[in-house]
Amino acid sequence: MHLVRLVLLLVLPSCISVFPSVVASSSGQLGPKNTIYDGLLAYLFENETTPYKANAMPICELGKKLKIQQDMLLIQLFDLDEPTQMLTVDVWVESTWKDCRLTWDPKRFNNIDNFVIKAEEIWYPDLIFYESLHGNFEEGMFIYGESKARIFSDGSIQLGAQAVFKSFCRINIAQFPYDRQRCNITFSSWTKDTSNFLLVKKEEAPGKKEDHAFVSASNGEWMVEGFPSFDRVADRKVGLDEASGRSRQYSEVAFQLRLKRKYMFQQVYMLFPCMLLTWLTLFVFIMPTECGEKIAYVTTILLSLMVFLLMVSDNIPRSGDAVPVLGIYFCIAIALVSLANIKTIISYNISLKGKDFCMPACFIKILESGKYVGLPLTHHNEAAVKVISFAMKPRRPDRIR
Ligand SMILES: *[C@@H]1O[C@H](CO)[C@@H](O)[C@H](O)[C@H]1NC(C)=O
Ligand SMILES: *[C@@H]1O[C@H](CO)[C@@H](O)[C@H](O)[C@H]1NC(C)=O
Repeated sequence: MHLVRLVLLLVLPSCISVFPSVVASSSGQLGPKNTIYDGLLAYLFENETTPYKANAMPICELGKKLKIQQDMLLIQLFDLDEPTQMLTVDVWVESTWKDCRLTWDPKRFNNIDNFVIKAEEIWYPDLIFYESLHGNFEEGMFIYGESKARIFSDGSIQLGAQAVFKSFCRINIAQFPYDRQRCNITFSSWTKDTSNFLLVKKEEAPGKKEDHAFVSASNGEWMVEGFPSFDRVADRKVGLDEASGRSRQYSEVAFQLRLKRKYMFQQVYMLFPCMLLTWLTLFVFIMPTECGEKIAYVTTILLSLMVFLLMVSDNIPRSGDAVPVLGIYFCIAIALVSLANIKTIISYNISLKGKDFCMPACFIKILESGKYVGLPLTHHNEAAVKVISFAMKPRRPDRIR
């Protein structure tokens, strides 16, 4: 008795699972304990004479190429890190193509026009993007492999996935902080060249403007100016091709992220304080020598400028290609304040030494050489004093009090 039950338990479920799908696939009708979708899936994937092979590329006619339309939508820009030149974006990536094996007549299947299936059950393109910084070259395929595809009854397939891309972006800092950056994200097939595979940008509906970015995609630091796409065919030498000197043609779709820096931050926190400091330097010239604080004053300004320069250099890539305008501005400001410092020291020297003020010998040499250009020089000290300062009257002790 037990044996009979055991046999029934083992045999019955397998009968149930095999039998209805056979019934459904042969007729497209419902069997017992079977859904319309079971029938459709069986019809598409479990045909005994031509079973679906997920690793066979869907080219059904001789001499034809498989055309994949690639689209990408920028959902959010996270970060563009200048020192490491790394761009982090949240995007929706979508490919559409036609798989001639996956067509059906919706009327036979309760008017099911499309359905969703795990991407790994069908063939999908092995796309990568060149600028990837994920450290794992399968990342591009991974996003599709985990995703789901929508299949339409005419065989068109829509496979999309949301992903966070970390991508390399060469940054040109010459105009910092008034700079614009362009970052490419270039998709291509990992293995397939143009002999039977074409990757093109998505055809827009006529009259519709090409736009791949959400209005709110900008972040606090960058404004997204545009995200156009370009397709092209490029010669590339990879692996074995390199050894033989031949190149292969690969079709690529590049999405170019156009960014404009929101420079308010740099203006408020760097430029404006620096401007104030340089203006403050002017006041050292009207500060009386007697108060004895002139040098401390200018040196403090000089040090604060140095601190600002450090802040700037921390925030830009360490690149020798170009010097940003902000850096040039700080360098000039520091040079001017340093000159003011030197001038302060000289004016102390002249003012406090009074009558005993004496020019260094080299200065006198230089001034004496003026004699040969026609400058009348009678007495060293007097001439030097006239040239260097307009307030050279020796201070009397009663004025210092
Ligand atoms: C299997 O495919 C062949 C050729 O495409 C077709 O004629 C046949 O009806 C299919 N069989 C089933 C069970 O759908
Ligand atoms: C980005 O792509 C565009 C369009 O193909 C190309 O003109 C440009 O040179 C690319 N930029 C970089 C940095 O590769």
